[in-house]
Amino acid sequence: MSKTQNPIGIFDSGTGGLTVAKAVRKLLPNENLIYFGDTAHLPYGDKSTEAIQSYSLKIANFLMAQNCKVILIACNSASAASYKLLKEYVGSKARVMNVIDPMVAHVSERYAGKNIGLIGTKQTINSNVYKKKIDDLNQNITLKSLATPLLAPMIEEGFAQNKILANVVEQYLSDVTLENIEALILGCTHYPLIKNEIENFYKNQNLTNNATNNIESITLLDSSEIVAKSLRGMLEMEDLLNRNEQKGESKFYISDYTQSFEATAQLFFDENLHLAHYPLWE
Ligand code: DGL
Repeated sequence: MSKTQNPIGIFDSGTGGLTVAKAVRKLLPNENLIYFGDTAHLPYGDKSTEAIQSYSLKIANFLMAQNCKVILIACNSASAASYKLLKEYVGSKARVMNVIDPMVAHVSERYAGKNIGLIGTKQTINSNVYKKKIDDLNQNITLKSLATPLLAPMIEEGFAQNKILANVVEQYLSDVTLENIEALILGCTHYPLIKNEIENFYKNQNLTNNATNNIESITLLDSSEIVAKSLRGMLEMEDLLNRNEQKGESKFYISDYTQSFEATAQLFFDENLHLAHYPLWE
C-alpha cells in the first residue's frame, strides 16, 4: 500500500473529536480514518499537562503502529498540552496537526481589531495558548477567555437538549468576561454538539432589554470545518492525498466502552460502525 493510502489518525478524549472526524470524512471522503476516543481518561480538560501528555504519547504509539500518515489531535486540551511533544516524538514518521493553529489563522484573517470570546476546558484556557498565538500575529485582537469545565463531561453524559445544560450554558455565557464580543470560539471539540443550546442562549438574551451581545452579530466559531480544510491543504501540499476513487474506511477505537460514544459515532457516521475496545494500559 502506498503511503497516500495510509490512514489519518484522529484522537480526542471522547466524542468531541467526532465533530472534526465528521468534517474530515465529508471533505475528504476517500481517506481512510482511524479514530481513537480515550474514554477511559475523559475529561482531559481537568487533568494535568503531564497526564494528558502521557495519554497522548500512548495514543500516538497506537496510531503509528497502524501506519497513520497524519496524527490529528482533535482535542483542544491535548493540542495545548501535547502538540509540541508529539511533533518531536513522532518526528518524520507522520505529520502531526492540532486544532488550535487553524482556528488562530482563521480568526487573525477575519477579526483584526475586534473582541473575540473563547470558551474551553481549564487546560486550554489556563495554558493561554490561544492568546499567545493570536498575540503573536499582531492583529490587535482582544481575546476574552472563560473556562467552562462542566460542559464536556455533561455532553459525554448525554445531557445535550436538557434543562440543566441550558442553565449551565446560561451561567457561563452571561459571565461579564464574555461581554461585547463579535465572535465566540468554541475552543473544545465537544462544544459543536451543543451549538443549538449556545445559539438559544444568545437568542433568548436578545429578547431581554439589557442584552450585551446580539446573536445577529455573534458568530460561533466551530473548528471542525476549518481544521478539515487545513488538513486538506496540508495533504495537497505534501502530496499525501489519497487519490483512490473508492470511499475510505473509518475505524473507531475507544479505551473504555461508553454508550454515549457509540450513539454519537453511529449518528455521525451512517455506515456500519466498526467500534473496537483498545485499553491503553495493557
Ligand atoms: N474535546 C476536548 C477539547 O477539545 C476535551 C474535552 C475534555 O475531555 O475535557 O478540549
